[in-house]
Amino acid sequence: MTKLSVNINKIATLRNARGGNNPDVLKVALDCEKFGAEGITVHPRPDERHIRRSDVFALRPAISTEFNIEGYPSPEFIDLVLKVKPHQVTLVPDAPDQLTSNAGWDTKTHFSFLSELMDTFSNAGIRTSIFISTDKELIEYAAKTGADRVELYTEPYATLYPQNPEAAIAPFVEAAKVVRSLGMGLNAGHDLSLQNLKYMHDNIPWLDEVSIGHALICDALYLGLEKTIEEYKNCLR
Ligand code: PXP
Repeated sequence: MTKLSVNINKIATLRNARGGNNPDVLKVALDCEKFGAEGITVHPRPDERHIRRSDVFALRPAISTEFNIEGYPSPEFIDLVLKVKPHQVTLVPDAPDQLTSNAGWDTKTHFSFLSELMDTFSNAGIRTSIFISTDKELIEYAAKTGADRVELYTEPYATLYPQNPEAAIAPFVEAAKVVRSLGMGLNAGHDLSLQNLKYMHDNIPWLDEVSIGHALICDALYLGLEKTIEEYKNCLR
């Protein structure tokens, strides 16, 4: 079964726009779980422009599904993750001021840095995942770092999907087979939506988890959060 992890960054963005506590990030996370989400993802950034460190500490004991923290492994991020001990940490190669993650890791160039981090997080009992493109060699290097999983960066799939679904999915199916043959778990995320998620899942049914934020929260404006989560889960059946 492929788990749906809801990325709640956008809820924090909306809250921060007015400075109060509306919408309440913690309540939304709990409601996502109540409506069927199998995980909650947050991406704390150094400028705290959406999720704050304090949100991460408040969410940890409240979440009863799987808690995934993603981000660039700065010393502050590593310290936060080790204190909070989520179920999973997903490392992304983001610059601090980046709008959103827009590339996977070069696991060859950053091999020793990532390998050390995999040891650090594994020793703390936290499952590790590395955000990555479909490049076979980079996936092989990710496996050598000791990562438990990779998260495939799906923006190129989402962009090409409307014109040519077969061409869009082909490199992802190949990459997913490589990941499976290396014995790693498989996550996917970025720009997944009600339009393109089912086709991805139909072609890669062994996906462990998808992490979805932007499109899901946009859909919730029209459908409501409960119906939206139900529809995303229907894509994963
Ligand atoms: N996975 C990673 C590593 C991300 O950085 C993001 C964006 O924060 C997502 C998944 C979710 O992407 P989207 O908001 O486009 O669904």
